[in-house]
Amino acid sequence: MDAIAEWESGWAAFDRSADGEVPFERAAAAIDELGIRLRDNYPYFHPAYAGQMIKPPHPVALAAYAMAARINPNNHALDGGPATAALEREAVAQIASMFDYPVDCLGHLTSSGTIANLEALWIASRVRPGAAVAFSEEAHYTHGRMCSVLGLPTVVVPVDARGRMDVARLASRTDKDRIGTVVATMGTTASGAVDPLHEIVELAAMRGWRVHADGAYGGFFRIIAQASEARMEAAPWLALADADSIVVDPHKHGLQPYGCGCVLFRDAAVGAYYKHDSPYTYFTSKDLHLGEISLECSRAGASAAALWATLRCLPLTAAGLGRGLLASRAAALAAFDRACALPALTPVIEPALDIFTVAPLARGARDRASDVSARTQAAFDALTAHESDPLYVAVWRLPRSLGSLALPDVVWDREECAVLRSVLMKPEHRERAAAIVDRMATAAV
Ligand SMILES: Cc1ncc(COP(=O)(O)O)c(C=O)c1O
Repeated sequence: MDAIAEWESGWAAFDRSADGEVPFERAAAAIDELGIRLRDNYPYFHPAYAGQMIKPPHPVALAAYAMAARINPNNHALDGGPATAALEREAVAQIASMFDYPVDCLGHLTSSGTIANLEALWIASRVRPGAAVAFSEEAHYTHGRMCSVLGLPTVVVPVDARGRMDVARLASRTDKDRIGTVVATMGTTASGAVDPLHEIVELAAMRGWRVHADGAYGGFFRIIAQASEARMEAAPWLALADADSIVVDPHKHGLQPYGCGCVLFRDAAVGAYYKHDSPYTYFTSKDLHLGEISLECSRAGASAAALWATLRCLPLTAAGLGRGLLASRAAALAAFDRACALPALTPVIEPALDIFTVAPLARGARDRASDVSARTQAAFDALTAHESDPLYVAVWRLPRSLGSLALPDVVWDREECAVLRSVLMKPEHRERAAAIVDRMATAAV
């Protein structure tokens, strides 16, 4: 008997309601049909899939999720899931410690990076009422959208040739007094560029701005930022300890099933902004609990159980979760080195994490953006449609503002230039990175 069944059997026997009872054959047929329907997916589990930020969760996460979901605790309130609420606190404390946040900081899991960022921006709007939120041109579109939801003015800051926020341009803005919060992206969605957070926090300290770090994608790379073989610039990562809030998505590089984001606030006093009265949900505890420090109500306790169990097996250290991150980082470095050696390709941005971007453009050639885009699309189609050995990568519509810096030889006859993009987030990509780039080069001619 498993542990949950044993726990259940300790209660007085009762007749389970016939409600919802389904004959075995019908249940089996539905599950069989589902199995077929689910094949209508890209092979996210396979290294041939290197397109978007998707891979299956760790088996321990899946097992823990299924185990907890059988009880179905709700981490909205302590009454809904005392055990999983405790697991959430423990897992969040480990994430906070990874960023060198103080032990008394505030944080919780969310259903996504989008919601986690919304909460951080909402707190920013309460701390700096009416002030604008600044983020880079390459920040995730959620920041613009959530500022519009919150009714906050925005300031969009240009990026440098590596896709990072241009801090000098931020510093010299004539409307800088409007700004209340700066969002630094720790790994942009398109290219994995890391904003110079260390410079941003320094400037923000002088100007009295809040700083929010969006590490939805890149946050876990903090673990390996100081490892020499990762060849990363450590300074922006060390500065996370000084950010006012941080978002990281365990459902990206934390090996979790979807439905697991995380937001942290360095100063627990912002918890006061969440204060509200709920006359019906909280009646067993006087402690401040998760439902009182979160904008969302019902949340799967199973997510907390899955993350907690994963971190028991793969702690947030270089030898734990860091091993996979080092492998995917090595894959991006290998891909970049390979592309530099191939005359038919021009890397767009030297990878800062594990995302590789490249243009089907002969080095130094003065091709039009429309021609490069057509070659990119043709390469993408050929790789995807390959009969015996498909390769799934992505197309990035590089905006002219960044593209004219990153690819100065391109003739900009349009505002965007399509280039190839590949998210090398599986450890297996380390061995295959050069071959993936070779395939891109062959498909691009
Ligand atoms: C940098 C960044 N921020 C925010 C998000 C949104 O996160 P989610 O898809 O979990 O809502 C993403 C998603 O890719 C991201 O890359």
